Amino acid sequence: MNDEWNGGVAVVTGAGSGIGEGIARAAASRGMKVVIADIAVDRAEAVARSIRAAGGSALAVATDVSDATALDRLADRAYDAFGHVTLLVNNAGIEMLGHVWNIPAETWNKTIAINVLGVIQSVRAFAPRMISAGKRGWIANVGSIGSLGMMPIQTPYMVSKHAILSFSECLALEMEMIGAPISISCVLPGPVATRIFDDAVEGDEGKASGKHRAIMADMLRTHGLTPDEAAEIILDGIAAGQFWVPTHPELTEAMARTRAEYLIGDHRPHLTEDSRTLL
Ligand SMILES: NC(=O)c1ccc[n+]([C@@H]2O[C@H](COP(=O)([O-])OP(=O)(O)OC[C@H]3O[C@@H](n4cnc5c(N)ncnc54)[C@H](O)[C@@H]3O)[C@@H](O)[C@H]2O)c1
Repeated sequence: MNDEWNGGVAVVTGAGSGIGEGIARAAASRGMKVVIADIAVDRAEAVARSIRAAGGSALAVATDVSDATALDRLADRAYDAFGHVTLLVNNAGIEMLGHVWNIPAETWNKTIAINVLGVIQSVRAFAPRMISAGKRGWIANVGSIGSLGMMPIQTPYMVSKHAILSFSECLALEMEMIGAPISISCVLPGPVATRIFDDAVEGDEGKASGKHRAIMADMLRTHGLTPDEAAEIILDGIAAGQFWVPTHPELTEAMARTRAEYLIGDHRPHLTEDSRTLL
């Protein structure tokens, strides 16, 4: 338990489902007032209602993170309702499947707008108030174990998650430059059993997308942590001030080692046995 969080305010994007919902519930159980931001307003309202029914404080705010002005409105609502934001978790994200050359331009744009710009514009909307308060604060951006790897047929997603890693690193350096007491974390979830692949946009209607979706959705259901399990690990890591917050540390370490060896050696991208089964 982080005493500085008890009575504080958490804003979580994409908190109407999955990992974000888990984080919102876990933050509420740690004594935080929680703002549930999601484009799926019915789900956001349901999460907020159940937190309030359990004695917590929660506000649902319909938010499309791909709209920068919606993120400004979210920040205003959060500060108006609950005051100083202690913890901002930029979690909203979508999956996108298909061969690079078959995915329509607007589909590519949507992935980047939600998964990358949604995180960047949220920081732009919240950070000035968090910094000027001069209080301890925490900002966590949700990447993926995929931020360290490569995977065909999920290229827009992989590109977006690599960007989150880079953005979070540079953001941490800028906070250090100005001496702001704001801890930056980059969350790297491994498999968590959520709806993300059920909702994935199929950029091409070819069999690659459908087969890939079915295998990945099944893998999350069979091998994934529950969102509540993942949320506790994630909040513990953020509260401890970790920059990297993996939900599956051993898997993440193995991927980091593989990538380091690949970068140092004269290697080329190649399909692994696992990725071949997806084709
Ligand atoms: N589930 C996993 O195995 C896994 C692994 C690695 C990373 N992640 C990341 O975790 C985060 C949460 O994913 P999840 O698995 O819980 O998925 P999920 O689909 O269960 O939840 C995502 C939520 O984001 C919301 N959302 C979608 N577009 C939005 C928009 N434009 N504005 C606001 N909200 C929007 C959805 O309505 C949904 O409630 C994502 O960033 C995802 O990339 C998940």
